[in-house]
Amino acid sequence: MTDPNLRVLISAEKIRARIRELGAEISRDFPSGNLHLICILKGAVYFLTDLSRAIGRDVFIDFMGISTYGKGKTTSGEVKVTKDLDISLEGADVLIVEDIVDSGITLNYLMHVMEQRRPRSLGIVALLDKPERRLRPVVTTYVGFQIPDQFVVGYGLDYAERYRNLDDICVLDSPPQAPPRA
Ligand code: IMP
Ligand code: MG
Repeated sequence: MTDPNLRVLISAEKIRARIRELGAEISRDFPSGNLHLICILKGAVYFLTDLSRAIGRDVFIDFMGISTYGKGKTTSGEVKVTKDLDISLEGADVLIVEDIVDSGITLNYLMHVMEQRRPRSLGIVALLDKPERRLRPVVTTYVGFQIPDQFVVGYGLDYAERYRNLDDICVLDSPPQAPPRA
């Protein structure tokens, strides 16, 4: 895709290499027991499929849909579950798989939701982290890359539902339309 607004921040090759490392680390940390990877739709789908195959052991995968108000670059702070899990988490080791931690509002909320399902352990794997943007505390167990406060798209991440299928993670310099205010 050639788009003058897009600048590669993390190449597909770097993403692949980092995911291999994360997979190895996770398999070392969870040698036995039921390990559940919970993909937060839709942004984490590409990350989940690659990460799950980089983990050299059997895993369960499941999906949770959430909506945060605001379709563009901002999150207003209200989170709602729109699609719940199919598989019980009771007694399992659970890792929430998320594309990016930004304000922390989504993951702060999801940690509370998941804790109520009584897993044996609960952690977060985030491909990207923008620590400068944090409004709510989030403890990540594994992070792929820390990035500066720039809006990124690709490898699952969208701007108003566009650009998810880019191989690379790119900075979106000037969005096609003004970002909606949340
Ligand atoms: P938080 O609740 O503010 O931490 O936001 C998390 C969600 O906001 C992510 O799952 C993304 O869907 C979205 N998001 C935050 N930053 C970006 C970005 O730079 N590009 C695309 N989506 C983003
Ligand atoms: Mg999004």
